[in-house]
Amino acid sequence: MINFLKNIIKSTCFIFLSIIFLSQSVFSEEAKKLLSTDWSFKGYFGKFDRASLQRGYQVYSEVCASCHSMKYLSYRNLSEEGGPEFSEEQAKSIAANFEVTDGPNDDGEMFTRPAKLSDKFVNPYQNDKEAMASNGGAYPPDMSVLVKARSDGANYIYSLLLGYEDPPSDIILDDGVYYNKYMYGNMIKMPNPLSDGLITYNDGTDATEKQMAKDVTTFLAWAAEPHLEARHRAGFKTIIYLIIVSLLAYLSMKKIWLRIEPKV
Ligand code: HEC
Repeated sequence: MINFLKNIIKSTCFIFLSIIFLSQSVFSEEAKKLLSTDWSFKGYFGKFDRASLQRGYQVYSEVCASCHSMKYLSYRNLSEEGGPEFSEEQAKSIAANFEVTDGPNDDGEMFTRPAKLSDKFVNPYQNDKEAMASNGGAYPPDMSVLVKARSDGANYIYSLLLGYEDPPSDIILDDGVYYNKYMYGNMIKMPNPLSDGLITYNDGTDATEKQMAKDVTTFLAWAAEPHLEARHRAGFKTIIYLIIVSLLAYLSMKKIWLRIEPKV
């Protein structure tokens, strides 16, 4: 009977382990196809690289913002702890570069004014229809939570940005359609937004395509999860707390059982 039970336990363990192993290799197959880089924010202790976040904002605002909105972000988020941590003055002057419609004023008319810290990021288009009309019928998705909306989002966006290439000879592309290795179906209506030296980084970093792809993806990863650092800190504290509690429980168990005579 005991042997029989042992066998059942053994085979259950075996099946369980094989399932874990197989599913992992399937996932890694999938992940292997995407490019990756040394993300500072991955792992249990991951933190965002401030300089990369600030450069990433620069890439977003100088390149992507002409087509993609980030409607859940406010200018004040740029100076918050755990983010790019621009100073409040810097965030104010960034905001002041944009115009928002406000009102109505006392005469019942809408007016425009420079954006303030409390304003949301200004949308490049008046509405979705205009966005699609300007992009050959394709809608440039809002980027506030895009990293979360795609599986393995950071690696996916990084790969997509570096995945433009000439189409294989048997594929003829329509006007305004581009070939990208990582896009679903390999066809995308976004022209390659990056090229070496496209922008001049404020901090003097060399603006290669890879560097810009990495920085803007880091910025988008923060936007999708602005409290990641606080979450990692809380997780770390919880684990320390659990270790201490388990140690105390173990020691008190030892102490209590000391009073009972061992049988053998
Ligand atoms: C000229 C306008 C334009 C610019 C500039 C632009 N995009 Fe896009 N983007 C688009 C359009 C249009 C789509 C939708 C493409 C489609 O569905 O075929 C898109 C789609 C995307 C997607 C989603 C692909 C998917 O899985 O659906 C990502 C990610 C993206 N863009 C990132 C960026 C980043 C990062 C930048 C800046 C470095 C940028 N884009 C600059 C127009 C633009």
